[in-house]
Amino acid sequence: MSNGMNRRDAMRFAGLAAGTFFAGGSLNAFAAEKAASGEFWKYAVVDPQKVADTAYENYKVGRCMYTTFYGIVYNVGLVLEKTDPIAAAPILHFPYYMMKYGTGGANDWGTLCGSLNGAMAAISLFVPNSDKRKALCDEIANYYEQTMFPIYKPANDDFGPMPQTISGSLLCHVSSGKWSSLAQKRTDSPERTERCTRMSADVARKTAELLNLNAAPGIAADAAPIVTFKRQEPSATCYSCHGKGKKNSDVIAKMSCNECHDQAVDHSEKK
Ligand code: HEC
Ligand code: HEC
Repeated sequence: MSNGMNRRDAMRFAGLAAGTFFAGGSLNAFAAEKAASGEFWKYAVVDPQKVADTAYENYKVGRCMYTTFYGIVYNVGLVLEKTDPIAAAPILHFPYYMMKYGTGGANDWGTLCGSLNGAMAAISLFVPNSDKRKALCDEIANYYEQTMFPIYKPANDDFGPMPQTISGSLLCHVSSGKWSSLAQKRTDSPERTERCTRMSADVARKTAELLNLNAAPGIAADAAPIVTFKRQEPSATCYSCHGKGKKNSDVIAKMSCNECHDQAVDHSEKK
């Protein structure tokens, strides 16, 4: 089925809804009401390797944003299904297809990489506390910007060792462009698709690790976020003058400034 619910899921859901506990078939309405209240979007600890494998395998269904989001969220649903079927229901029947717009940096506009868009959506689904949500979104963005991708290796590897690049940017255009340029592969080549497939698995895995550390049952919603990456210089310095609420406050961007600008940090003192 094109909406992310396959036949097996549909049957499983029908079975649930017909369960004696919810005689009258009101599970659907009940779960929908709970989900709308925010109360039932529960996180459950997932196996990051399984999340990465799911993301790798489902890239072909809906590409980078879809598969990163699906890999994380659907696996949470599968874990919850065993312990808390009511909480699992809205997750397993989420309209995952909506995430398909994220491909190619939003409908091929080359902006925010879809894997990050999907990762941040998943974080936002399971982390209602805004300070924590922001810290985790920063963490996954920093990871993306500074990591040599792709890392993931599928069980059946038809491609052999892949060239790797550090994007230095969250933009699909820059990220895929640097890789294509190094690898000497066209955007429409199977190798470029494979690179983005593996990278989506990498981002999904890292996000699952982050959520396991920060959103597992028993961790207080407002507990201090556990993150490891730091802003790279000189962007943090640039942002200290140009950023929102800072002295100049003329820029909204945590991006690596020198990807596009060649100012040295001390330019404001030079006349
Ligand atoms: C100490 C504060 C400070 C820091 C740090 C800083 N800037 Fe600036 N920047 C300024 C000021 C002041 C101006 C001049 C603003 C104006 O002309 O309106 C400026 C101007 C600019 C301009 C516009 C240049 C132009 O010709 O109009 C760019 C682009 C810029 N900075 C980028 C950066 C980048 C990239 C970094 C980090 C490498 C950075 N800035 C770090 C204070 C700073
Ligand atoms: C993806 C490329 C890109 C990145 C990354 C980027 N910028 Fe820019 N920036 C631009 C473009 C394009 C403009 C518009 C330039 C123009 O109008 O001439 C701009 C404009 C600016 C201006 C206003 C310049 C002016 O003439 O008034 C400042 C200041 C600036 N950027 C600072 C930064 C800082 C600081 C960072 C990092 C936090 C950053 N930029 C990251 C592309 C980028």
